[in-house]
Amino acid sequence: MNTKTLRLGVLVSGRGSNMEAIIKAGEEGKLNAKVVVVISDRSEAPALKKAERKNIKSLYVNPKQFSTKAEYEEELIKIFSSFEVDLIILAGFMRLLSPRFLSYYKNKVLNIHPSLLPSFPGLEPQKQAIDYGVKVSGCTVHFVDEGMDTGPIILQRAVPVLEDDDAESLAERILKEEHDLYWRAIQLIAEGRVTIEGRKVILK
Ligand code: GRF
Repeated sequence: MNTKTLRLGVLVSGRGSNMEAIIKAGEEGKLNAKVVVVISDRSEAPALKKAERKNIKSLYVNPKQFSTKAEYEEELIKIFSSFEVDLIILAGFMRLLSPRFLSYYKNKVLNIHPSLLPSFPGLEPQKQAIDYGVKVSGCTVHFVDEGMDTGPIILQRAVPVLEDDDAESLAERILKEEHDLYWRAIQLIAEGRVTIEGRKVILK
């Protein structure tokens, strides 16, 4: 199989554990992709230091320095283009990207969400799952479209919700699976096994 080494640009806002898991999968040779640049919209995001320690170019781009969202995203595009990224990986990035950005990187932006979409999109999905009383939740890797957590689904994994779970314990159990799921979705793309038909992702 003709597997290309993908160049990944990662957008983060916080902790960066998904980013780390992707970097690790690359280092271990399980993933034909490498993270070439990490951009955070928050200066204090621990993800930035974690990427630096791996000698990966990490940049804080302050959205407040730009007078419009369009200008801010223009800067992101400029940086990603200069690093020749093939895919953009959202890893705990707490901003919605505009239709313009997404059409520039059509079907090239991925996100992971800690619920089985379309259940519990948006903020605090683990708390939403606990409050609703579901017995199973999980995580979803999907292409990003213009909606909030609505894009075509690449992979999902179910995680049981236990009787004594709270949002935190459920989040921890789901996070473990996120770390094993995200890189697998990227690897499917690297292997050229992913096509999108309407809102369905077909895996060859
Ligand atoms: C993860 O739970 C991810 O699913 C969600 O934000 C969280 C980010 O965590 N989109 P981390 O920064 O990857 O540790």
